[in-house]
Amino acid sequence: MLQSYLCLAPVIPVVTIDDARASIDLAHALLEAGLPAIEITLRTPQALDAINAIAKALPDAVVAAGTVLHRSQISEVIDAGAKFIVTPGTPVQLAEHLSEAAIPVMPGCATVSEAMTLASLGFEALKFFPAAVSGGAAWLKSVQGPLPTLTFCPTGGIDLASAPSYLSLSNVPCVGGTWITPREALKSGDFAAIGRLAAEASGLRKAA
Ligand code: 3PG
Repeated sequence: MLQSYLCLAPVIPVVTIDDARASIDLAHALLEAGLPAIEITLRTPQALDAINAIAKALPDAVVAAGTVLHRSQISEVIDAGAKFIVTPGTPVQLAEHLSEAAIPVMPGCATVSEAMTLASLGFEALKFFPAAVSGGAAWLKSVQGPLPTLTFCPTGGIDLASAPSYLSLSNVPCVGGTWITPREALKSGDFAAIGRLAAEASGLRKAA
């Protein structure tokens, strides 16, 4: 299930929402532009309401809950309607709880040892974060040999220009990033601008 979500589009927009009312217009603009999977970070008090609003109004959207840091947030985001969970990093204790979650989880890692620990707990698709400063596309290429069963969604420091170097790798189904949803555009309700950025991003097709 998680793999199919990650293959829906080349980019998962990572969004920090200040106004839950804007979330439906936002998700609509992203969907229209060809980006159905959206990560809403739990970094604002409005995040759960935004996840809930999108899940209810737009069944074609695949809304993920990001920045999940604590065990207690697992049931909160599931109740809100999240289709999958994303963490920036994954201490073993949290990973053990996540491995029992009722929805798919893409746990975060930044090192080979972390990736191996998560693989041993049954996770197959990991967030590589913060990607650019942790080794970037070169790191992902280097782990293809020793970690052939794992795929990664790199996020952190990626933009339209750098995304193709990640997307050309066979262990990268998609990348994540905030560049599609600038906070200013979100604040002013400029969904046309977000739609244009999203269309550019969805045009970043994976190399066959
Ligand atoms: C995340 O949580 O994935 C990051 O905040 C995204 O980082 P970016 O702003 O560099 O895309």
